[in-house]
Amino acid sequence: MSLDFTGQVAIITGAGNGLGKNHAIALAKRGAHVVINDMGGNRDGSGRDSTVAEAVCEEIRGFGGSAIPHSGSVTDVESVETMTDLAMTTWGRIDVLVNNAGILRDKTFAKMSLDDFKQVLDVHLMGSVNCCHSVYPHMQQQQYGRIVVTTSSSGLYGNFGQTNYGAAKLGLVGFMNCLGLESQKYNIHINALAPIANTRMTADIIPQNIATALDQDSVTAGLLPLCSQAAPNRKILAAGAGYYATSQLMESDGSAIDNAFEHPEQLLEQWQTLSQPYQGSNINSGPEQTMKFIKRI
Ligand code: NAI
Repeated sequence: MSLDFTGQVAIITGAGNGLGKNHAIALAKRGAHVVINDMGGNRDGSGRDSTVAEAVCEEIRGFGGSAIPHSGSVTDVESVETMTDLAMTTWGRIDVLVNNAGILRDKTFAKMSLDDFKQVLDVHLMGSVNCCHSVYPHMQQQQYGRIVVTTSSSGLYGNFGQTNYGAAKLGLVGFMNCLGLESQKYNIHINALAPIANTRMTADIIPQNIATALDQDSVTAGLLPLCSQAAPNRKILAAGAGYYATSQLMESDGSAIDNAFEHPEQLLEQWQTLSQPYQGSNINSGPEQTMKFIKRI
């Protein structure tokens, strides 16, 4: 199956640099009209440069692609509405939304200001929520939409110095898990991409000998299926260095413990037993987990 986006309209946030730019160029080369959103800031979210989004559009037009810039921040709800209106008035529909914009403000939690924590949540989590909320009615009306959120191994598995980033990135998975349930009936699918790539974001984090293997095209190759008609729903795809894997939340088999409230010490005593791997099928929603517990007592 060839991944063709001819005539489709895609919004890519944070598309002025790194992965977002790479995603946008790939979608445009495969026929999509693209909105290049980027406020043109520094890695920590400071500063602004409205020429960054336009420069990517120029590059896309240079190979015959179709692109318009939007240099607002994903944290600015009014500006996000303007971006959606721009796509609708220019092309009349929005098929794909790639929530990619991101910043870093790494510090250990002990040294982190609440402002640094909130700013990171605001861009990654609320920025994605703002964009989804804005395009969602159009996707509902056209009974089609493909949304991608960008998560991270830092949120899925943890990383030293990134409590703010990890919270935002796993928050996006929770958002996806719930929205995907609500959206299925509108043929709107939402998935998460967990990239590993050499960009300005990771330039001084990933050791140089590994960085050369972490090309951006490998990540974009993982993004394209998630934007396509054949996209799954509510999946997490990890992509990097030409290697791909799905991440899944696992729950142990668990144990029924009598009188646990009277003797909570039993939980510590039985920790190994209640942590045994689950033999049944994966849990697909919160209510399914509740029913698993109810059936076992
Ligand atoms: P990057 O720093 O090269 O690109 C991020 C872009 O987002 C920049 O162009 C920046 O101007 C833009 N941006 C930041 N705040 C914005 C806002 N409020 N509104 C609009 N645009 C904004 O970083 P990279 O590596 O390309 O990251 C892309 C996404 O992938 C991010 O969400 C990042 O957290 C995620 N990611 C990247 C990994 C990697 O290995 N590079 C690993 C895991 C996740």
